[in-house]
Parts: sequence; structure tokens; C-alpha cells
Amino acid sequence: MNPTIGIIGVGHLAGYIVAGLMGTESPPRVLLSPRGAANAARLSEKYGLDVAESNDAVVDGSDVVLLVTRPDDLLTAVSNLPWREGQTAISLAAGVALSGLQNGIAPATAVRTLPITAAKIHESPTCLFPENAAARALFEQLGSVHVFDDEETYDLASIQGVVFSVFHAGIQSIAGWMEESGLDKDTARELAARALRATGGMVLAHPENDFDSMVAEYATDGTLTLAALQELRKNGGLSGWPEALTAALNRNREVARDTL
Ligand SMILES: NC(=O)c1ccc[n+]([C@@H]2O[C@H](COP(=O)([O-])OP(=O)(O)OC[C@H]3O[C@@H](n4cnc5c(N)ncnc54)[C@H](OP(=O)(O)O)[C@@H]3O)[C@@H](O)[C@H]2O)c1
Repeated sequence: MNPTIGIIGVGHLAGYIVAGLMGTESPPRVLLSPRGAANAARLSEKYGLDVAESNDAVVDGSDVVLLVTRPDDLLTAVSNLPWREGQTAISLAAGVALSGLQNGIAPATAVRTLPITAAKIHESPTCLFPENAAARALFEQLGSVHVFDDEETYDLASIQGVVFSVFHAGIQSIAGWMEESGLDKDTARELAARALRATGGMVLAHPENDFDSMVAEYATDGTLTLAALQELRKNGGLSGWPEALTAALNRNREVARDTL
């Protein structure tokens, strides 16, 4: 039987998670916190979900509770709620360490995840720390689940969420150029997005190929690919990635220090 899913922190990300859950074959019962009132009312009306009277009532009425507040609010939000054994509290907040969370929700079991908004279309790669059957079962319905058994590696892997969001700007840049060069806006948007989705699909479909050979396969002498790649390399369009991801990881570590 489907567990009842409670949500504390009914904001931007929670809206996408709820939409994803409601699009599964067998949608679970979802019980929303009354905070984030406008969003809770919108989701309740759209999907016929219950809005609880309080966070206490969310914990009381749920088997699994998703914690989707901002990192700074998380530990305050979970304290003094009627947590019980056998319950799972899944944090979706970036940077909040498991140990502090576990203290706040005992005797329930705490885990950390970092799904992305693509959960709505069941394509979220979701990092999970540590392994947990309830969290895995939930997020496998919303995409793929990647389990880590140490927290430092989990935090590092979670930076994939930044890649996802930053690539929106990449698609914007590509589609913008196509449009300026003469394609109509909708065609440019669709082609840029589909090209990037196809790239990811091929990389996943061919784990036997290393990246050098994949790039070399397309960037042979005289090709359009080589011309474009040389220009990107000249302009730092690729070499900027390591610095950008390091900046995101460092920011994540600052959040972790602030929430200790
Ligand atoms: N947005 C993303 O794409 C994304 C992606 C990955 C991870 N995350 C993580 O998801 C978390 C939420 O991000 P978000 O963008 O969804 O934030 P958000 O839109 O600001 O939503 C946070 C929600 O938490 C509620 N809240 C705050 N304190 C609460 C409390 N004590 N009890 C119940 N609810 C409380 C707020 O309600 P009020 O409005 O009433 O204050 C608000 O509705 C963050 O920790 C972030 O690291 C987000």
C-alpha cells in the first residue's frame, strides 16, 4: 500500500514534487503543511489534496514526511513535532547535515535527498544519503536514484542539480542565437532543448565510450562540430565549468557551516 506523504515546506520545489507524484500510476495520499498558504491552496485545489491544520498534524498523519523548507528554516521547522518510530523524514534542503536533522526528528529516521524540478516529468536524478527503502521507492517514481554512503560524496554529487539549472541558460543562449539568425522562436527553443536532451541520452546509452572518443567521433577535420568546438575552447566556454561547479560546491559548504 502507498504510504501517506506529508510535506512541510510547500513552496517552489514542493509544487513540482507534488505534480510528479500526482502523475504516477498510483498517486499516493499527500498531506500538505498550511505554511506557504497560497501554494498549498493551489495544489489542494488542483489535485484534491488535504491541507493539514498544522505541521504537527502533517507528521501525525503521514508515514513519510518531505522537508522542503529553505535550509535556514529546516531545523526550526522540524523541532517539537510528534515524530514516531518507523516514520521517514526526507530532507530536500541543500547543505543541511544529516546529524542535526536526525537529532531534530528522533525517533523517526532522517535521510537527505536533492531532487530537481524535473521530478514533475519523472526525470529527476535524485541523490540519496544514506540508503533508505522509503525514500528510494518514492524518488524512483520521479526519475533515477543515486545512493551515497558518505555525506561528503553525497554533497559533491548533489551539485548535478546546479548543472541542470545552469543549462537552462545554456539552452537560452543557443536558442537565442538560432532565433537571431532567423529561426522562429518556438522552433529555436525546441531544437536547442531536444539537441541537449539527445546528447544526454546518447551518453547514457553508451557507457562503453569514453568522452574523448565521443567528442572525436564528431569533431573530425573539416566538420562544423570542430569549427564550433574550437571557438568554444578559445572563448573559455568549456573551461569555465570546473570553476562554476567549484563555486557552487563552496557555496553548499558555506550553507552547511551556517546551519550547524
Ligand atoms: N527550488 C529548487 O529548484 C530546488 C532544487 C533542489 C533543492 N531545493 C531545496 O528545496 C528547499 C526549498 O526550496 P524552494 O525553492 O522550494 O523554497 P521556497 O519556495 O521558499 O519554499 C519554502 C517553503 O517553506 C515554508 N516554510 C518555512 N518555514 C516553515 C515552517 N516552519 N513550517 C512549514 N513550512 C515552512 C515557506 O512557507 P512561507 O511562505 O509560509 O514562509 C515556503 O512555502 C531548499 O532547501 C532548497 O535547498 C530547491
